[in-house]
Amino acid sequence: MSIFIILTLLGFLRFTSEAASVFSFTIHSCSTSNRTYFEPNSTFQANLNVLLSSLTSNASLPDGYYRTTVSPSSPSNVTGLFLCRGDTTPAVCQSCVAAASMEITRRCPNQTESIIWYNVCMLRYSNRDLNPLVPYVPLGNISTIAISERDRFDAVLVNMLNDVTGKANTQTGKKFATAEVDFTSSETLYFLAQCIPDSSNSICYSCFRSAIGFLPDCCSGSKGATILVPLCNIRYEFYPFYNRAVVSSEPLVPPTSGSRNILLLVATLVPVLVALALLVLGCCFLRKRASKKYNTYTFTEDSTGIDLSGIESLKFELAAIEAATKKFSDENKIGQGGYGAVYKGILANGQEIAVKRLLATSLQGALEFTNEAALMVKLQHRNLVRLLGFCLEGQEKILVYEYIPNKSLDKFLFDLQRKRILDWPKRYKIIVGVARGMLYLHEDSQLRIIHRDLKASNVLLDANMNPKISDFGVAKIFHGDQTQLNTRRIVGTRGYMSPEYAMRGQISVKSDVFSFGVLVLEIITGQKNTDLYQSHQANDLLSYAWNNWTQKTPLELLDPTLRGSYSRNEAIRCIHIALLCVQENPSYRPTMATIVLMLNSYSVTLPLPQKPASLMHRRTPDR
Ligand SMILES: *[C@@H]1O[C@H](CO)[C@@H](O)[C@H](O)[C@H]1NC(C)=O
Ligand SMILES: *[C@@H]1O[C@H](CO)[C@@H](O)[C@H](O)[C@H]1NC(C)=O
Ligand SMILES: *[C@@H]1O[C@H](CO)[C@@H](O)[C@H](O)[C@H]1NC(C)=O
Ligand SMILES: *[C@@H]1O[C@H](CO)[C@@H](O)[C@H](O)[C@H]1NC(C)=O
Ligand SMILES: *[C@@H]1O[C@H](CO)[C@@H](O)[C@H](O)[C@H]1NC(C)=O
Ligand SMILES: *[C@@H]1O[C@H](CO)[C@@H](O)[C@H](O)[C@H]1NC(C)=O
Repeated sequence: MSIFIILTLLGFLRFTSEAASVFSFTIHSCSTSNRTYFEPNSTFQANLNVLLSSLTSNASLPDGYYRTTVSPSSPSNVTGLFLCRGDTTPAVCQSCVAAASMEITRRCPNQTESIIWYNVCMLRYSNRDLNPLVPYVPLGNISTIAISERDRFDAVLVNMLNDVTGKANTQTGKKFATAEVDFTSSETLYFLAQCIPDSSNSICYSCFRSAIGFLPDCCSGSKGATILVPLCNIRYEFYPFYNRAVVSSEPLVPPTSGSRNILLLVATLVPVLVALALLVLGCCFLRKRASKKYNTYTFTEDSTGIDLSGIESLKFELAAIEAATKKFSDENKIGQGGYGAVYKGILANGQEIAVKRLLATSLQGALEFTNEAALMVKLQHRNLVRLLGFCLEGQEKILVYEYIPNKSLDKFLFDLQRKRILDWPKRYKIIVGVARGMLYLHEDSQLRIIHRDLKASNVLLDANMNPKISDFGVAKIFHGDQTQLNTRRIVGTRGYMSPEYAMRGQISVKSDVFSFGVLVLEIITGQKNTDLYQSHQANDLLSYAWNNWTQKTPLELLDPTLRGSYSRNEAIRCIHIALLCVQENPSYRPTMATIVLMLNSYSVTLPLPQKPASLMHRRTPDR
């Protein structure tokens, strides 16, 4: 009898300690689309409460998945579902879903659509059809694999991810599978894939494909990654993050027989009492930790505390932005880029902002925009313009940046008077700063971002003439790749576009490297590449640079206003690097990491550049 109680207690303790891992990450997204809020005490609220409690009660069933609609034929209908990770016990699943139901109403108090993910469960509701593929959240493990191992690692990943997702998809019942493989004699890689059980094989297949497709962007080289999509998720790590006992269908608790002796009873009783005390402490600790996590965003720390609830503080009211920019008046307009116009604004509190009003051509959903803008805000680097927040109201999608008082680089570089301010040390500092900012976008931030429109007018100069790259991440927020594939609309600026991008729409970090090369040549010569291009002279800037290079007169390229102030070595090295960047074959172009290294260290020997891509042979892109 007492053994029975103790075992029950043990079971309970096991469940609570597992419950700790339930909380190890919490990510949510409240929809802001159309500002569809429900009124307190409305029918919708009542329906939502019914929904959440029926989800919670069904979570104790062994399926680990349930979807239902409350009042399907009323205008206040609400549909919701939860999915528990395939290896969770019903008890853990229920505690996770219960926590999720409570937390989602706390975090999204009056939204008609929300989603929340915990480590072992996901819960979602909406008053309209649920798009199973948005929002998605990529989480990269901060530790990375050694460069020398990357190729082999990637090959293993591709293989194993195909295996594990294929296996998950063919399961009857839970579409859930795990797999492990020995990467080295001492390191094992663990994989998990899961899709919502009642979905068709073909939709799960395409969900898994897109989840795997996010990996290069978010998690290239990461030792672990998690991609959360409402319909499916994948994860891999170098440690067993799922319950291997359940997965290999061994019983969780050894079968108990009645013939345990008294020694065992004592041996278990003491730990139980200790554990009970710990449990009480643990609960307080958990509560504290949990509530602390909700306010912080530890994306780079351990990638477990993503909290999109901070989003609320990043949101700007459209009315406030209209007031700040005098309703987007022309006199406030300070620029126009591939994705929309930029306005200067002054907020009611006196803060100056730059407002980018995105063209309303994006196919992207509001949740996704919000999601990504929140991630972009976390990108911080001294050579990037800071994104302060965003606004999403009706058809408006707006990004709000810090305002940089000095003008953009082109306003100095191509102005006969102002270019004199840019002596060689300043220009060199700008080249190095832009390289560092680009490196951060490409490799050092958790998201791999391809700028796609790097040019002099997108480099802003602060009061100390430090360069700050602007407009980064817009391509990502716009899902530029997809937009371009679907509409063949190529965003970018003539003269800066690599040939493979301008002609075939191929985008990679190397297309940014090409633009960087053109920018460096412009900084050195003080001449606009597009000027030469548009005047249809036989010599564009690249051939002009190349000719001087092959004739061993590289210093001829220097802007005449630099005479006297430049360092010969630095200038020649910059020209050399620029020529490496604008080579026709993307694979010959160095990466930003190599470029930063080349700029920092003279001990790095530079390869000889090949003839640059000729701008003159390029087809005019559709714009
Ligand atoms: C909603 O109902 C609660 C309890 O019934 C009540 O205290 C509260 O004032 C109501 N709120 C509104 C806005 O009617
Ligand atoms: C599951 O939810 C439905 C309502 O959607 C409810 O009728 C049913 O009783 C629930 N099942 C359990 C086991 O609670
Ligand atoms: C369910 O709710 C949505 C959003 O409120 C509404 O557009 C739809 O018409 C509702 N369905 C029914 C059958 O009333
Ligand atoms: C609920 O929605 C309204 C808009 O209808 C908003 O003003 C209010 O701040 C929201 N309440 C909470 C608690 O977020
Ligand atoms: C990241 O990977 C390391 C090494 O495999 C592991 O110890 C750590 O727990 C992982 N972090 C997360 C959040 O999974
Ligand atoms: C969203 O707003 C547009 C117009 O702004 C309207 O046509 C559409 O019906 C709204 N959608 C929902 C779900 O309320």
